[in-house]
Amino acid sequence: MATIPDYILPIGGLTLAPILIGTVLLGVGYFLYTVIYNLFFHPLRKYPGPRLWAISSIPYAITFVSGNAHRKVRELHEKYGETVRLGPDHLAFNGPQAWKEIMGHKKAGEQEIGKVPGFFQGGPELSVIQIEREGHAWQRRLLAHAFSAQALQAQEDLIKHYVDLLIQGIREKGDEGRIAQNAVRWFNYITFDIIGDLAFGESFGALEKGTNHPWVEMIFDLFKYGAFNWMFLRLPVPRSLGIKFIPKSLQEKLATTNALVEANLGKRMSLDLQRPDFVYYMTRKHREGFLSDKEVDSNARLFVVAGSETTATTLSGTTFFLGKNPDIKEKLLNEVRTAFESEDQININNAQSLRYLNAVLEETLRLFPAVPCGVPRMTPPEGATAFGEYIPGKTVMEIWHWPMFRNPKYFTQAEQFAPERWLGDPRYKGDRLDMVQAFSYGPRNCLGKNLAWAEMRLILARLVWNFDFELAKDSYDWMDKIQVYTIYDKPELNVHYVPRKFE
Ligand code: HEM
Repeated sequence: MATIPDYILPIGGLTLAPILIGTVLLGVGYFLYTVIYNLFFHPLRKYPGPRLWAISSIPYAITFVSGNAHRKVRELHEKYGETVRLGPDHLAFNGPQAWKEIMGHKKAGEQEIGKVPGFFQGGPELSVIQIEREGHAWQRRLLAHAFSAQALQAQEDLIKHYVDLLIQGIREKGDEGRIAQNAVRWFNYITFDIIGDLAFGESFGALEKGTNHPWVEMIFDLFKYGAFNWMFLRLPVPRSLGIKFIPKSLQEKLATTNALVEANLGKRMSLDLQRPDFVYYMTRKHREGFLSDKEVDSNARLFVVAGSETTATTLSGTTFFLGKNPDIKEKLLNEVRTAFESEDQININNAQSLRYLNAVLEETLRLFPAVPCGVPRMTPPEGATAFGEYIPGKTVMEIWHWPMFRNPKYFTQAEQFAPERWLGDPRYKGDRLDMVQAFSYGPRNCLGKNLAWAEMRLILARLVWNFDFELAKDSYDWMDKIQVYTIYDKPELNVHYVPRKFE
């Protein structure tokens, strides 16, 4: 006698088969409803973009962790135009009005297009980069003391000390330029040492030891962790489930970082030192109030992450572009070497007036922005008005720096490294330089912008004063090998630093 298959066995008076069929039909029905709704009825349906991306967030989420998202988003802008729908509830913008409309100041009472909760991670409290509008304004006012012109002046000797170590290290290790040295590593050493000293009262010792501190080694993994985190935030899965898929090794590194921060910061905070580091300014009582210990902790770790890799990346990019463009390098060498009579004259203040050097850095930030992806914003639940249109609530809005700053519609020879475009050269007169906002724009722009500029100018001017340099052959295609996981995964950039001969 034939046995009855399990799936039609009765459960509580019902057979399993109809339940299974019903569930499948419901799933298919829901799927079809979502597809039809997202394509034909969703308030964002009029915005162009790939159909698959309009249906589901999965293609965007996968692209974001592919390492190639910056190139892909650029391709989409080229194909679909200045506004592209990157997901059912997700738009990317690439035109001159975008900064003001999305990131600009809003009048009192007007809704800000705010941060996406969970995009930035870390810290026992919300740091300035995470917190919403009112809390942000208050924290930012307090933190601004640590980044004021006065603070920067007081920090100059500390920064200069590390530039001295960098020059000395490159000179010692280079064997008169015969040995190629990895510039990416050198720039990581110096920027982490500076920021470590400012954030925790002591450097990571990288320049002196000639090796990265384990925490520094971790930073890139942390960004990668951030990329996975954002991917899961975009997917229709519970956050707790998404986190389980993040590689265990990354989660362990995060835990190690937390322990390191607590130890280093705790040590610095226990010493009532009068030195002009961030801790000094953050723990003062100001007219506006004072930060709690947890807020100090969260912001100190933010500063290390935000203020090191970014400047190191820009300096690596500058070195690459100069290596590939010897005529531009010569002009820069000439400017720096004729502007001063001796090296000790070069300081933060007078490096500001080196016009060509500034243009070289600006052009690097255009073609190789330290933050290549978008830093997403989200409309409030009731929606917001931007570009004269109503944008529904909880829409993610982004400006991807990489495609925006290379938009061929707004830049002549957009792919060319041409510092002249920043110096009024008539060949570039139509360029929309105001579209290049590598430090972002509006009330949430970069708090460390002046510090970053000071560091980058001083380091570049001192390097150029001391060395001529050439790319090693294996680094000619450095830019093509780069991948992006929120920030760049940079391969070695090998450079021959040849000490300048003084007559
Ligand atoms: C080339 C160097 C740098 C670039 C291109 C850069 C870029 C950026 C960008 C694009 C943002 C906006 C993020 C957002 O929209 O949420 C930002 C924010 C921020 N950056 Fe930088 N950054 C650089 C260096 C630094 C340095 C040296 C520091 C020093 C600690 C720093 C500290 C910060 C802070 C605290 C914020 C958050 C500001 C706020 O939300 O009010 N950055 N940066």
